[in-house]
Amino acid sequence: MTDSFAVRGACLHTPAPDRVEAWPDALIEVHAGTIAAVHPDAPAGVSAAYEASGQLVHLAPRQMLLPGLVDLHIHAPQFPNLGTALDLPLEQWLQDYTFPLEARFADAAYAAGVYEDLVGTLLANGTTTAVYFATIHLPATQKLAETCLRRGQRAFVGRVAMDHPDSCPAFYRDESADAAVAQTRALIDHVRALPGNAGLVRPIITPRFIPACTDELLHALGALAAEAGCHVQTHCSESDWEHGHVLSRCGCSDTEALHRFGLLTANGVLAHGNFLGDADLARIRSAGAGVAHCPLSNAYFADAAFPLRAALEKGVRVGLGTDIAGGAHPSLLDSARMAVTASRMLETGVDPAVAAAARGRPGSRIGTSEAFWLATAGGAEVLDQQTGLFRPGYAFDALLLDPANPDSNLRLDPAEPAARRLERIVHTAGRPDIAAVWVGGRKVHGRVGNASERGG
Ligand code: GUN
Ligand code: FE
Repeated sequence: MTDSFAVRGACLHTPAPDRVEAWPDALIEVHAGTIAAVHPDAPAGVSAAYEASGQLVHLAPRQMLLPGLVDLHIHAPQFPNLGTALDLPLEQWLQDYTFPLEARFADAAYAAGVYEDLVGTLLANGTTTAVYFATIHLPATQKLAETCLRRGQRAFVGRVAMDHPDSCPAFYRDESADAAVAQTRALIDHVRALPGNAGLVRPIITPRFIPACTDELLHALGALAAEAGCHVQTHCSESDWEHGHVLSRCGCSDTEALHRFGLLTANGVLAHGNFLGDADLARIRSAGAGVAHCPLSNAYFADAAFPLRAALEKGVRVGLGTDIAGGAHPSLLDSARMAVTASRMLETGVDPAVAAAARGRPGSRIGTSEAFWLATAGGAEVLDQQTGLFRPGYAFDALLLDPANPDSNLRLDPAEPAARRLERIVHTAGRPDIAAVWVGGRKVHGRVGNASERGG
């Protein structure tokens, strides 16, 4: 079979938040982009058969295969601001930096250049599934979807809806709720009809957040989500300002308001969620939605750390997001290590002037295997995508870690226990360590030597 190949070598994944599974010499068989079989101990005969037909990718001794990363929250048009403009509170940051930048995407040629650079950058960082907010512009958003499809990135692409005249400037808002819905519908139809798109790239309904949308628009998008059977994404209970704004306008929390609008749906992605209370978490869980935890962005814009441990204990689905460009790092491994760090700071508290016993929230920490699970299988569960694990029936979305690269900060000792090696990976791996990336069996970045053309 020409669209079959196998990868042999060291593999590691996290089938559960507290479970690291590592195989020193596994064989993963891939048929038509999907994992057909996983052999924890590579059987010599099967391996030899793939080798004989030139369909074996045999990893070098220090290389390791990991599942691809699932980034649940990216603002694609904010990429040009990456690493800058982090000095204002959210409500002012949007008006002064973000809306003027996003308005530039009325120019589809400008958008095409930015999106090409962004998708390539994220793939090189190992992000095999990406959930994007684009802008209000249909042609530019179509370009983003087309770019993901051509480059081979699994993606959910949303045309941002925002029509509220009190929160959105005249130069960057939908002209009416009807226009926003019509353009959202057009994006859904366009993405679903893209030639060669067999579900790799999907549309997602994207009200920016409640403050930016009229009730009329929110109701209409809720109805459209049900009619079109689309995922939904929005920002939810992010900061004191945003949380307070929704409480005073709607008389309830974000999740309850979203529920009333028909926007709290199964596999919906709620970004941030720092101010979610117990009732909100219960509502999210029963709706089957999930949270995109963006720990780095939260440090700048949220006024608080997300109570991740509490959300996980309540059975809420959670994955990670970079929140480019509210978060200044494109690598989801950075989000994973920041999730660990933020949870530790929440646990101990941060103000030395406060007595130790009153300073933090005991029991808040998460470990590195949990952080890696969030970045892979956890994010995939939020979206209901079969990726993030090496398991038969799952998409072969993977990255090849190669610490032999002279630019690497990663020191891996095969004699160390798997959990310890994963700890090193989460804390020190980055783009220079990622030698190759596959999505749905297609090699979308890098090279792995002679057999490297397999799957690409
Ligand atoms: N809330 C509404 N829009 C945005 C945005 O672009 N970034 C973040 N972090 N929060 C938002
Ligand atoms: Fe965001």
